[in-house]
This record gives sequence, C-alpha cells and structure tokens, in this order.
Amino acid sequence: MKMPELHIGELRARRPIVQGGMGVGISLSGLASAVANCGGIGVISTVGIGMHEPDFKKKARDANRRALKKEIRIAREKTTGIIGVNIMVALTDYDDHLDIALTEGIDVIFMGAGLPLKFSEKIPPERLRETKTCFVPIVSSGRAVKLVFSHWAKRFGRVPDGVVVEGPKAGGHLGFKKDQIADPAYALEHLVPAVIDALRPFEDVAGRHLPVIAAGGVYTGADIDRFLEMGASAVQLGTRFVATHECDADIRFKEAYLRAGPDDLVIIESPVGLPGRAIRNEFLDDVSSGTRKPYRCPWKCLRTCPFKEAPYCIGDALLSAKTGNLKHGFPFAGANAWRVNEIVSVAELMQELEDEYLEVVTARGPAVAAVS
Ligand SMILES: Cc1cc2nc3c(=O)[nH]c(=O)nc-3n(C[C@H](O)[C@H](O)[C@H](O)COP(=O)(O)O)c2cc1C
Repeated sequence: MKMPELHIGELRARRPIVQGGMGVGISLSGLASAVANCGGIGVISTVGIGMHEPDFKKKARDANRRALKKEIRIAREKTTGIIGVNIMVALTDYDDHLDIALTEGIDVIFMGAGLPLKFSEKIPPERLRETKTCFVPIVSSGRAVKLVFSHWAKRFGRVPDGVVVEGPKAGGHLGFKKDQIADPAYALEHLVPAVIDALRPFEDVAGRHLPVIAAGGVYTGADIDRFLEMGASAVQLGTRFVATHECDADIRFKEAYLRAGPDDLVIIESPVGLPGRAIRNEFLDDVSSGTRKPYRCPWKCLRTCPFKEAPYCIGDALLSAKTGNLKHGFPFAGANAWRVNEIVSVAELMQELEDEYLEVVTARGPAVAAVS
C-alpha cells in the first residue's frame, strides 16, 4: 500500500506532502529540492531572497530578481521533482517575483499573506491563462476561496489550480485576528470542510478536481490521515521541515526548536500588521517591554509595514534568525515546535510520515486509501 498521490493541474506528486514556503531564507533550493526528491512538493520562499547578494541593501529589487532566478535554477539542477515558490502578496515587488517564477517555468506558485486579486501589467490575464504553472492561493476561510476564485473566473478567464487552507496552529504570519487563534471555531478541522464546500462549484469552471491542502499543526502520519479522511487531497508542513539537515537555516535556528517548550511558543504582533507565531526570546521580550530596535528602511519591502512607527524591522529580524544571530531576531515556528526533539534528514522524515500514515490506514481496514 502507498500514500495517495497529489494531483494539481498536470502535476503528480508521489506523496501528498507539500513543504510550506518559509521565509526569510528558511526554505530555499536546499530544502525544496530534498523534499521534491522524496516525492513531495518542495517550495522556495521568495521573501528577502536577495539577502546574500552584494547589492541587497542598495538595490533589493534587482538583488531579489537575480537571487530568485539562481535559486530556482539550483533547485532544478538538484531534482527532477516538483518545485514551487511561495510569494507573499504583501510584498512590494510581488509581481517581480511572479514574473521571474513564470519565466523560469516553475511548477507551482503558492500565494500567501494576502489574497491574489490584482496584478500589474507585467502579469496580464493571458499570461495567467496560458502558462503551465499552477497557482495555489493560501487562505484561511471558505469566504476567501469564493472571493479569489470568482474574481479569477471573471477577470482572468480561469481559476487557480487548488488551495492551501492554513489554520491557526501554523508558524509565521497568521491570517486570523488575535482572538480567533485559540477559538475552536477557527480550528483547521472546521476550516477544511468549509473550504472544500466553497471550492466545489469552481471545479466546473476548472473542468477538473481542485485539491485542498491542509496546513497548520500537521505533525504525524496520523494527522495526515485525519485531514485526507476529511476530504483534503494533501497536507502542507512547515515546522517539521525546519528540523531537517537540509533546511536552509543556520543550525542555531534549528536548535531553538529543539530547546523550545510549549510555553515558549508565543503570538506576536508583527509590524506587517498580522499576528505571527514565534519562539520567545530576549529580542521579543525587549520588544514587548517597549524597547525599539533601531533600523534604517532602505525600501518598503512590505506594502502593509508602517515602517516609520514599527518597533523593529521584521525583514532584518527574520534574516538575523536565519543566519543564527538570535540576539537580533527570532525564529517563527508552528504551535507544535515544542514537540521537535531531533534533527533528521528529509528522507527520514518523509518515510516516518508515510509509515505512520500507512499504519493508521492498515489498522482501519482496506479500501480506504483513495486517490486524491
Ligand atoms: C519558520 C517559518 C517561516 C514561515 N514563513 C512563511 C512565509 O514566508 N510564507 C508563508 O506563506 N508561510 C510561511 N510559513 C508557514 C508555512 O509555510 C506552513 O504553512 C506552516 O508552518 C504550517 O504549519 P506547521 O508549521 O504547523 O506545519 C512559515 C512557517 C515557519 C515555521
């Protein structure tokens, strides 16, 4: 017996596992290609991707374009599997990232931190219609699905190829108000059926099945089984992929996961204007006690950032954490990060998830593992 494949557009992933895009610099070509080589979908996060280019501080836009092209090409050299990019809609240079990803012929574009409703003249409707690249928005409600899919059908003559529904246990920025995060009404278990219902009418427009990918707090193979049983076609994991050798973050970032206890996982108010989940440390304690961390904003990388009032630069803080400098930043992490107790290879993790999943399915009896 095997795990069911994930079908998105013409793509076929051998395992129904998507590695969530993680910025800044946490999922680049190293992690993404390792996941793709194990039959999942590996995702490069594009936010701040030009960070190691010499002109990043002065010409971030050019640096990001160049670095994104390079990362996609490096990933392609390392795998023949499925590679995606995760682009934050709130980025000032969002369309630049889309342009590069489409030009490079990326397999899938995941679009999060905002709803993809508007595009500049760089991405005209015919470009969205004619490409082989699949589009997958990241949403947190059935309402958002209706909004995006009906807008795309009307304005662009097509709909996206699937959807990631991310619940409040995820790491990084969350698409919820602070008081919704712990409210059981917003649990992923409630969101998945609502998103499936909202998506079904658009399958007629698409002329095919549109997969729903469940994200946020998925930790074991039994969790995967639970969401597939609910009708999801796949899951997206972030936290578990951080604790792998291939994850592109510094070892000190991964070690913060190993050290974290349940009380260390906190909800922060990010300068971006969204809540986020992170591992508490001295930097965050300073910020919550009112200390401002001085910075210079060379260009406004996020449309939603009130950079004149923000107590710190989220881009700098996340980049510092990625490079292991946790004095000047903090790691984003999912609600289950405290459960991480070792760093393994991506192949080991994928095998463990598959073994656990098959164990549950086998115990339940035959004829259950259907194709997505
Ligand atoms: C360190 C970290 C950084 C993340 N950065 C992003 C990001 O840049 N864009 C995005 O859409 N999601 C981001 N996420 C969310 C993940 O892609 C994923 O959906 C989520 O973490 C799934 O929940 P889990 O961590 O419980 O598996 C991030 C998550 C983590 C842990």
